[in-house]
Amino acid sequence: MWDRFLRACRREPVDVTPIWFMRQAGRYMAEYRALRAKHTLLELCKNPELATQVTLQPVNAHKVDAAILFADILLPLEPMGAPFEFAKGEGPVIHHPVRDRAAVERLRVIDPEEGLGYVLDAIKMIRKELDGKTPLIGFAGAPFTLASYLIEGGKSSNYALTKRMMYNEPATWNLLMSKFSEVVRRYLHAQIKAGANAVQLFDSWVGSLSPTDYEEYILPHVSSILKDLEQTGVPVIHFGTDTATLLELQKRAGGTVIGVDWRTPLDQAITRLGTDVAVQGNLDPLLLGAPRELLGRRVDDILQRAAGAAGHIFNLGHGILPDTDPDAVKFVVDRVHSYQKRA
Ligand code: CP3
Repeated sequence: MWDRFLRACRREPVDVTPIWFMRQAGRYMAEYRALRAKHTLLELCKNPELATQVTLQPVNAHKVDAAILFADILLPLEPMGAPFEFAKGEGPVIHHPVRDRAAVERLRVIDPEEGLGYVLDAIKMIRKELDGKTPLIGFAGAPFTLASYLIEGGKSSNYALTKRMMYNEPATWNLLMSKFSEVVRRYLHAQIKAGANAVQLFDSWVGSLSPTDYEEYILPHVSSILKDLEQTGVPVIHFGTDTATLLELQKRAGGTVIGVDWRTPLDQAITRLGTDVAVQGNLDPLLLGAPRELLGRRVDDILQRAAGAAGHIFNLGHGILPDTDPDAVKFVVDRVHSYQKRA
């Protein structure tokens, strides 16, 4: 069923639970490492032919129910005026972190066609290659998660500088959030126009905030993106990690599907979220390295807990890690697809 994933997003009946993996393309696959040996990560992202090739690798190898565009949440930073690189072993490095009002004012609210056209070209090419057999997910980073990289200058353990701006310079913070919201809103609309069948908003690090702060500093901005996208009728997945205390607020902010990580039992998440939204998740990525017997039981446990969901898309609670065995990924796809038959 080509649209099993889209049907689950829309809470329509499906033959079996659809499955895809965050970071399903990447270093754990030999095919990806072979291409990465010849090109930097940014080269792969900026060349539509290479991005198409990488996007298709896990679709062909693992028979997942959705493809996800090969790109990175940080790509909009460059045309906005904040260039960066992926440094070996360090992750992203922003050349000039943005930490004051003047720097926020200098950021450009770009149109995706100027500066991110290569992503839109990749989407068109991927849709052609997928030939209607598998739906394509587009994505963008959410304002808080993008701001955390821009302000800290790279990855962070406590988001100290980010929260310093948020608490001490609320007007500057709101200006930054507003600029990101508008860029992300335009970018996701453009991805949908280019052919994305669904989009995911990655608010990966927002779980570092209390519900009170989420409601005051984040929710209005995320909501301005998601409420606007809902009008397209294209499914929108709203994802974060460490969000056990934030799920209801995330639902209020918007999205057709709420991503849940492994820290929250899926049945509890479903009870809290209700049946007017679908859920995605929520296997711990490190279980892919556990013995098959345990991995299989944990997959089945999630499927049992999802029984009351109006729509469920199986996924990890966060991305696949680089030292994952690709056979474990295939095992989980088969386990999910054969669940009804085995039950
Ligand atoms: O999921 C997919 O297969 C699509 C591709 C994708 C990438 N990044 C490619 C990538 C997606 C969806 C992302 C999103 C992304 N990027 C997020 C949100 C998702 C999450 O994990 O929470 C974040 C926070 C980033 C920023 C980012 N990009 C970091 C922190 C790093 C370095 C960490 C690392 O693993 O080295 C990246 C690099 C990156 N983006 C890789 C890939 C496949 C690493 C691979 C490489 O260096 O070749």
